[in-house]
Amino acid sequence: MADKYVNWVSSGTGKKIAKKLGLPQPVKLKRYSPEKVNVGLNVLVGGFKNTPVLETLYKTVLDLPVNTFVLEDNQVFRKGLGGNTPTNDEKMKFHGLVFDASGIQNTQDLQSVRDFFNPFFRRINECGRIIVLARDPDTCEDIESAMSNRSLVGFIKSLGKEARRGIAVQIVYVTPDGAENLQSTIEFLLSYKSAYVSGQVIKVHKAEVVKVDRKKPLTNKLALVTGASRGIGKSISEVLARDGAKVVLLDIEPQRSALEKLAKELDGLYITLDITAENAPQVLSEFAEEHGGWDVIVHNAGITKDKMFVNMTPEIWNQVINVNLASQQKINDVLLKEKKINSNGRIICVSSIAGIAGNAGQTNYATSKTGVIGMVDYTAKHLLSDGITINAVAPGFIETDMTAKIPLGIREAGRRLNAMSQGGLPIDVAETIAWYANPSSSGLNGNIVRVCGLMMLGA
Ligand SMILES: NC(=O)c1ccc[n+]([C@@H]2O[C@H](COP(=O)([O-])OP(=O)(O)OC[C@H]3O[C@@H](n4cnc5c(N)ncnc54)[C@H](O)[C@@H]3O)[C@@H](O)[C@H]2O)c1
Repeated sequence: MADKYVNWVSSGTGKKIAKKLGLPQPVKLKRYSPEKVNVGLNVLVGGFKNTPVLETLYKTVLDLPVNTFVLEDNQVFRKGLGGNTPTNDEKMKFHGLVFDASGIQNTQDLQSVRDFFNPFFRRINECGRIIVLARDPDTCEDIESAMSNRSLVGFIKSLGKEARRGIAVQIVYVTPDGAENLQSTIEFLLSYKSAYVSGQVIKVHKAEVVKVDRKKPLTNKLALVTGASRGIGKSISEVLARDGAKVVLLDIEPQRSALEKLAKELDGLYITLDITAENAPQVLSEFAEEHGGWDVIVHNAGITKDKMFVNMTPEIWNQVINVNLASQQKINDVLLKEKKINSNGRIICVSSIAGIAGNAGQTNYATSKTGVIGMVDYTAKHLLSDGITINAVAPGFIETDMTAKIPLGIREAGRRLNAMSQGGLPIDVAETIAWYANPSSSGLNGNIVRVCGLMMLGA
């Protein structure tokens, strides 16, 4: 299951041979650990025109354990609470470059984005971060502004493909009144929690501003994770428990002993249940009734039953649609109608790159995972109240039991066909889910974020 190539290519000899033969040279991605936060990393912030977003952005970055620098009139200043101090160190490296482009109004203004990033592009550390903030094109008043803000998606995706070296690049569209809701998103994207998230379009809108204890944002929250006994679900459960949640692990009866063991480790609870059982929504509703309601629901359980379409039987078609899609909507339906999700609650779904790009041999799976995107989209727009949100992750190639079953040649292609030249780990999906789950992520609703290392497949 492990990607031995990344280890080999990071060693002295491996590096030399890979370079000589023109083989992919993935860097070992840096991942978050509570002991090693971003202390001491340099982050440069700039913007086109003084916008409300830029003002809030300064405050947000200043509040993080990083060294904040600003670019004004081509001069870099160290920003501190007491004012700005000029710096002339032309060799200084940066962990993060963050640019507020929300003030751009036409195609001429786009040059400001080039002008900010170009001189510093080579000065980004390995596993660094690039973030562009822009105006959500759907909220722009005129065509020039809408198309200019939209065009930045092409910019960040190309930059991510050029940057490589584990550098992640994103665009965050924010509504003009939503700047106060950026905090959890900027923090996640600048941290090593977003190691395998790149080339993503994230939308933040105005919502209630919720303050949390940064180290334990999920304190006193009850979180359900389906398919929790192994793989990605296990990692999600561990991360939510790390962040302070009381985690309820759900899986099918044959996984009971794994569930029991993990529940003990995480001081959590567990339920053995098939989510496709007719009474599943009711069981989860009654459980919520006894425990004060759900704060977080993670629909992670999923299966594959791959066959080329000519061999696709009704049985395997229906099994996949029922586990991956229909059962999740039925559970949401009952829990929302019976008000068993607390206010500012979170529903988080797991789609897949296959649901975005399609995949030969996976018509049933891809249908179910695109359906998840449809479920998130409709629910976000029409079915929520009380500050409850719904979002999804769409993992690319993640090293788990599921992907270990893929034939070697296809598995190797899946691993390398992305800007990071490697597969992701379950923790990468889990950290992304924990960012959605954070109570201060109230401004995120209806997002589909790929955890795919900027895969070459799909839009
Ligand atoms: N591994 C990847 O690369 C990848 C990529 C994209 C999406 N995903 C998605 O991520 C999720 C987790 O994948 P994984 O790789 O950890 O898979 P996995 O097979 O390792 O784990 C899935 C878990 O779901 C449980 N489950 C299956 N059917 C269930 C049911 N009816 N009721 C309750 N539990 C059930 C299984 O027992 C298992 O513990 C799935 O939704 C999968 O489609 C995975």
